[in-house]
Parts: sequence; C-alpha cells; structure tokens
Amino acid sequence: MSDQDYINLINGSYLVAAVLFIVGLMLLRTPATARNGNRLSALAMLIAASVTLVDRNIVEYEFIIGGVVVGTVIGVLMARTVQMTAMPQMVALFNAFGGGASALLAGSEFIRLVDAGHVDEDVGATVMLGTAIGALTLTGSLVAGGKLVGWVSQNPILFPGRNLVSGLIGVLIVAMGVFLVVDPIDNELIFGVLVALALLLGILLVTPIGGADMPVVVALFNSYSGLAAAATGFALDNNILIIAGALVGASGLILTRIMTRAMNRSLINVMFGGFGASGTEVVGVGGEVRPYRSVQPQDAAMMLAYASSVIFVPGYGLAVAQAQHELRSLADLLQARGVDVKYAIHPVAGRMPGHMNVLLAEADVPYDQLYDLDQINRDFDQTDVAVVVGANDVVNPAARDREGSPIYGMPILNVDHAQSVIVLKRSMASGFAGIDNDLFYLDRTSMLFGDAKQSVSALVSEVEDL
Ligand code: TAP
Repeated sequence: MSDQDYINLINGSYLVAAVLFIVGLMLLRTPATARNGNRLSALAMLIAASVTLVDRNIVEYEFIIGGVVVGTVIGVLMARTVQMTAMPQMVALFNAFGGGASALLAGSEFIRLVDAGHVDEDVGATVMLGTAIGALTLTGSLVAGGKLVGWVSQNPILFPGRNLVSGLIGVLIVAMGVFLVVDPIDNELIFGVLVALALLLGILLVTPIGGADMPVVVALFNSYSGLAAAATGFALDNNILIIAGALVGASGLILTRIMTRAMNRSLINVMFGGFGASGTEVVGVGGEVRPYRSVQPQDAAMMLAYASSVIFVPGYGLAVAQAQHELRSLADLLQARGVDVKYAIHPVAGRMPGHMNVLLAEADVPYDQLYDLDQINRDFDQTDVAVVVGANDVVNPAARDREGSPIYGMPILNVDHAQSVIVLKRSMASGFAGIDNDLFYLDRTSMLFGDAKQSVSALVSEVEDL
C-alpha cells in the first residue's frame, strides 16, 4: 500500500467515525432511540481509538494495553454500580479526566517540540489553549463533583474581590501563553507556572457557586473538556480529536444554554450569582402560617381511580425516593381501570438534564406517555387530577405571577389549572429555589405527606382494593 493510500485509509476511517458520532448524537434526542445512539457513538470511539493506534506507529503497546484493561474494568464497575442520583458527579469525574488528558497530551507535545528545538506558532497557540482549558477543566470538574458528593462545602465559598483575583489570573494565563507562543524554547518554568495557575483558576471559578447549581457547571465543563480536546487535536494534527472535541464543546454549550434558559437564569448569574446554596428554608409571604389541606392515601386513591384523566408530574423527590417503579405500577392500575394517564416532564425537573426521563425509562414507562412542557401544558385545563410526585419549583405559580421571585419568568407546568391536585412530598419544605409554593395552599390541592415511594405504594394498595 502506498503512503497516500495509507493516509486515505486513516482519514476515511476517521470520516466514518465522525459520521457515526453525529448520527449517534442525533439519536440521543429522543428516549426511544437514545440507547442506539449511545451504541453508535461507542462504536465510533472504538474505530477512532483503534485507527489512531495504528496510525501513530506505536512501538510498545504494553502500557496502552495495560491502560485499556485497567480503564475497562474501572469503567464497567462504575457504570454498573453508580446510583442514578449519583450520575452528575460521575459525569463531572469523566469531564475532569477528559480535561486532564487533554492538558497532559498538549503539555507533552509542547515538551517534545521544545526538546526538538522548534515549536511552530500555530502549534504553540493550540498547545497553550489545550493545556490551560484542560487544566482548569480538571480542577473545576473535581470541585464540582466534590460539591455534588458533599466532600466540598455545598454553600458558595465567597471572599471579597474573588472575581478580580480570578480575572487577574485569567489575564496572567493569557499573557504567559502569548509569551510562550513567541518564545517557547528554554521557558519550561513559565509553562509550569501557566499550568499551575490554570489549575488554581478551575478551583476559584467553582468554589463560589452553590452546590445545587453544579449540574449547570458540569454541563459547562463538559463543553470545556471538548474545547480542550479540539485544541489538542490541532496541536497533534489529529482530525478525529478535533471533530470529537468540537462536537462535545458545542453540545455541552447547547445543553448549558437549555438548562439555564429552563431555569430562567443567565450563565453569568449561575457562575457569579452565589445562588443555589443548600439547606433551603421556606420563605413564606410575610412569614404567616397558611392553611392547607392534607389527604390520606385512601381518599387520594378514590380521586385517582374515579378520574377520567390523570397527569403525573415527577420531580427531584421521585429521584430521592426512587419511587419510579411504584409510580409505573400505579399508572398501570389506573389505565387498566380506563383512566387516561400521562407524565409531564419539565426540562429541569430533578437535578440533571433528562433526570426524569432516565428514571421513568428505568421503570419501562412507555415513551409515548411522556410529554414535554410545551406539549402538555394546555392539557392541564381538561385534566381531572394532577399528581405532583416530589416536584416543587417546576410547578410553582410564583414563576408566572410573583415578580421579584427568584424563579419569576421560569416556564412551569400549569398544574394549578387541573380540576384537582394531589402533591406527594414529606413536608411543606421548599425545593431547590428555597421559596414557598402557592400551589400547596389552593382549595383544589391536597397534600399527601410522606416519602414518595411509601405514598405511591400506599396508593397502589388502595387502588387495588377498590
Ligand atoms: P425541587 O423544587 O427541588 O423540589 C423537590 C421536592 O421534593 C422538595 O420540595 C422535597 O420536599 C421533595 N422531596 C424530597 N425528597 C422526597 C422524598 N423522599 N419523597 C417525597 N418528596 C421528596 O424539585 P423540582 O420541582 O424537580 O425542581 C428542580 C429544581 O432544581 C429547579 O429549581 C431547577 O431549576 C433546579 N435545578 C435543576 C437542574 C436540572 S438540570 N434538572 C439542575 C440544577 C438545578 P420535602 O422535603 O417536603 O419532601
């Protein structure tokens, strides 16, 4: 095979992998095709990695094979044992590894070129980008994961002038990067300081953000890890790394945008607003005690069993209680009695993108019963009973009509338009935004207190007995 044929074969394989990545991403758009999307993307990664190993004239495979074996064992164990509620921190850890890998690759390429005595300016620039973004993604993602697990304080850690300090460090990193592009030889020490500052910046960027905003931060760092990979791809002249990095960078940014829009927040507000602290207390209007109606499972079951239409609205509490299987059983029972059952999914219900979809898919809820906010919001007007299962902010009418509320302007599910509402939660406590919910005090609302799994199980038994 001629050299040109060989290059064509490598680039052709990369093209196939790139197309598979794009088709895989497209399939991830709906739950019904998401599994196949994942499989296609994994196949693309296998092609990309294998072709790269052949292309790079590797002399010794021992370390690579060892790394693949160790990585595969750890990856399979983690994927099999991780709890659904711990998924955001696992993604944070993967982003950290992605950023770290890009920084190491770009850094080693820089040192190799310096040793060889010449670094082209364009290569130098992409090395600096890959190293700096990769290093800050590494530490930023680790802090984000630490906050999600609870190893790092969930509260925003704020000190005066923090934005100025971070800004100065950012300027220093850029200045050093430009200097190293112009004068790369014999300046390894400056390169080391640049890496150290980027690692520090990652920490400083995330510590002031409240723990509950971490999913948005994780999505943003996902995008950064892609950008770092793309920059490193340019430095190494590796097409598939550029393409895969650009895809991750763009999709991470789009996801971040979708999340902040659905929370009616700006990215600036998330990054610098100090919002999303844990330990939320109910902030009542004027602090007064407001009357509400509570209901027992027996009466709630009667309402459901004799309704003609029911919409379930799952939220974060469903994930905490892991009540998805019981909810599915309840829905099946009601459908068997002729009740029209739907699930309304808010884009930021829970604590990570697609949280509710994943939980309900785990319980094999048919996809055609899941409706997005835009699809279902009008249906509440003609619905007999809306059942809120561990949701709070995403059904809070304050988002529509209480100007000045932290969630004012956020699109919500119009649960308060249903004929009757049953809310399953443990107490009158607030949700993520830390504010009271007028829905709980409406005449048509009944509160069914208790852990969602136990409450739904009780409803299942009661409906069975009817
Ligand atoms: P939240 O507003 O956080 O409310 C969840 C409710 O679940 C709480 O009020 C809690 O009340 C209840 N709960 C907790 N454990 C429970 C259990 N074991 N059984 C029954 N109920 C339980 O949730 P939401 O309505 O899903 O809204 C999500 C919020 O998170 C939004 O403000 C959103 O902006 C924010 N957020 C979302 C994301 C993504 S991407 N989804 C990312 C970051 C932030 P009790 O304590 O009284 O039980």
